[in-house]
Amino acid sequence: MISNNPDSLVLEARGISKVFNTGNMFSRVQVNAVENADLKLYRGRVTALVGESGSGKSTIIRMLARIYDPTAGEIYFKGQNVSAQKGRHAILHYRSLVQMIFQDPFSSLNPVHKIDHHLLRPLQIHHKGATSKERRTLVNELLERVKLYPPEDFAYKYPHELSGGQRQRVAIARALAVEPEVMLADEPVSMLDVSIRIGILNLLDELRRDYNMAVLYVTHDIASARYFAQEIAVMYAGHIIEQGESETVIQQPKHPYTQLLLSAVPDPERGLKTATPSSEVVNPSAKNIAPSDTGCPFASRCPHVMDICRSQMPDYVRSDDNQMVRCHLYPEETNVIAMP
Ligand SMILES: Nc1ncnc2c1ncn2[C@@H]1O[C@H](COP(=O)(O)OP(=O)(O)O)[C@@H](O)[C@H]1O
Ligand code: SF4
Ligand SMILES: [Mg+2]
Repeated sequence: MISNNPDSLVLEARGISKVFNTGNMFSRVQVNAVENADLKLYRGRVTALVGESGSGKSTIIRMLARIYDPTAGEIYFKGQNVSAQKGRHAILHYRSLVQMIFQDPFSSLNPVHKIDHHLLRPLQIHHKGATSKERRTLVNELLERVKLYPPEDFAYKYPHELSGGQRQRVAIARALAVEPEVMLADEPVSMLDVSIRIGILNLLDELRRDYNMAVLYVTHDIASARYFAQEIAVMYAGHIIEQGESETVIQQPKHPYTQLLLSAVPDPERGLKTATPSSEVVNPSAKNIAPSDTGCPFASRCPHVMDICRSQMPDYVRSDDNQMVRCHLYPEETNVIAMP
């Protein structure tokens, strides 16, 4: 197993936050979508960002993709602060290093253009292939790379002529076209039939291995995170509340919210009961998360809530096995880390 040595650190978020200002001219509403999040992505490793709907996963991934500017905090690519680099040229360069795959393969491809157009565009923009003939060859290679063969059968089709899984493969091929070092995947299989999800995840895993890419896999499904990722970060109401090696987080979940997520996952090894038929936690109050400004955001749902939880947000603490957790249940066994 590749260890998380600092040399393989590719992309890092340091204390990033995002505040959305919404509402109308009569009432302004501020949404703290993400608060003070730290995340590290390593070469050749998949990190899963897990949390329920509305917890801030897409906002984090969009900040990492530089679609949104963080309200606070910085993003570092191989030690360089890229948040400070503005302008079209800087963003274009960043896109040649960090690519994103979206949840919806239906809306991420333009219906009026054939598949080859979607793949030729990034090749042209990023100056891959010297001639149009060379770029045609690259298009075929990309389609084969995502297992759409024979490539000629797909290159001249329109997106609506493909299945959801095939379209997501095209979206992956498009991201691969620029030979990125980081692949950001925002719930890449959640809109696909259950039967084809595993094929897409296996493809992403193969590409991570073959290209030694860092992958961020965003999901609401902690079971798929375990299957696919070496690291897991769990989000709740805008905060990353637990992080660590997948096996550690799955076998010894520390935060009560992670424990709740896992209690819904069928796993004979852990001997936990199956609470729902799917591994997605059905949470009717997900849309009504009302994080208090000061206390732990999970306080209203936590079976272990204490007085201090309602008034004070817990600090990050790290345990011996390099697991990080933000919960008042773990004050002394661990030491408070100074976040970088
Ligand atoms: N563009 C936006 N404008 C206003 N609020 C937003 C916007 N995008 C997301 N939010 C809010 O930020 C919070 C986190 O959303 P999101 O990052 O999409 O969560 P997730 O991907 O985990 O479902 C939600 O409360 C959502 O309503
Ligand atoms: S800090 Fe308190 S309320 Fe929050 S998860 Fe821990 S015990 Fe529960
Ligand atoms: Mg989302």
